[in-house]
Amino acid sequence: MAIVTTTEMFKKAYDGGYAIGAFNVNNMEIIQGITEAAIEEKAPLILQVSSGARKYAKHVYLMKLIEAAIADAEESAGFDLPIAVHLDHGDSFELCKSCIDGGFSSVMIDGSHLPFEENIKLTRQVVEYAHDHGVVVEGELGRLAGIEDKVNVSAEDASYTRPEEVEEFVGKTGVDSLAIAIGTSHGAYKFTAAQCTRNEKGILVPPPLRFDILEEVSKRLPGFPIVLHGSSSVPQEFVKMINENGGKMPDAVGIPEEQLRKAASMSVCKINIDSDLRLAMTGTIRQYFNEHPDHFDPRQYLKPARANIKKLVQHKLVDVLGCNGKA
Ligand code: G3H
Ligand code: 13P
Ligand code: ZN
Repeated sequence: MAIVTTTEMFKKAYDGGYAIGAFNVNNMEIIQGITEAAIEEKAPLILQVSSGARKYAKHVYLMKLIEAAIADAEESAGFDLPIAVHLDHGDSFELCKSCIDGGFSSVMIDGSHLPFEENIKLTRQVVEYAHDHGVVVEGELGRLAGIEDKVNVSAEDASYTRPEEVEEFVGKTGVDSLAIAIGTSHGAYKFTAAQCTRNEKGILVPPPLRFDILEEVSKRLPGFPIVLHGSSSVPQEFVKMINENGGKMPDAVGIPEEQLRKAASMSVCKINIDSDLRLAMTGTIRQYFNEHPDHFDPRQYLKPARANIKKLVQHKLVDVLGCNGKA
């Protein structure tokens, strides 16, 4: 199967009350871990590439690795894995155009930092080019806190999506999906300790997501696919693994899984996960080095890292997103 757009995936996810996982990819092991999990779970998949990932690995390497993953699924599992390849947080028309010309099936144009009218204008420009080339577009309204392509958005600069703006934005831009801000945040430190309470084990409990905003948006855009960024749950097992093996990640905290499950059962059709994969990879490698200080072969430590990414993605597909068996 060739690379697909998200149109069909989102329609089925909306109707079925589940969400598609959009996982950020940066190298071969991450791509293999994710796609092997999706093959085993028969789950449709979005692999997304940030401009940072594109600079790190080069567009052509990532495309070829994804094509290889699709070919491997066909060959080894006899299974057509539907994969959409998406530009994450595109910040200019030129970047979006380059990804569209280079074979991506979906792009995000993130004009969320711009004034409303300018966001509309830029997004519309990308939509026109993308639709002419059979590619779908994700826009964004509202601003998440945390780190985005090296830019740190402070909690004060973050802002929830204003539901009263969504119909005009979608109507005037023609976007195919909309990312909204309801309290998720990028990175592994999503909330300061002051924003959280602590449970009986001393673990930080973040403030709940604003489901009232999601409900209002869904009411205004019936049947329209909503996207959640910043949706890593920051598994404490990996934070612990990092901290016990020479790392230092105090108070790293993510979005509770039951809240993501609830969002997936509503109009959220795409849930973005990146930081959790990085934690799994780094935790596994740190532990490996601690246990085998004399080893130096990258295959020895990348293999368990890839296996833990696969295990984590399987857990997300089955227990959080509910998209297993939907491919
Ligand atoms: O939302 C941002 C993503 O996690 C991408 O991160 O820019 O470090 O690749 P990156
Ligand atoms: P996390 O940092 O929570 O994984 O969010 C990833 C994301 O939104 C990518 O666009
Ligand atoms: Zn994001």
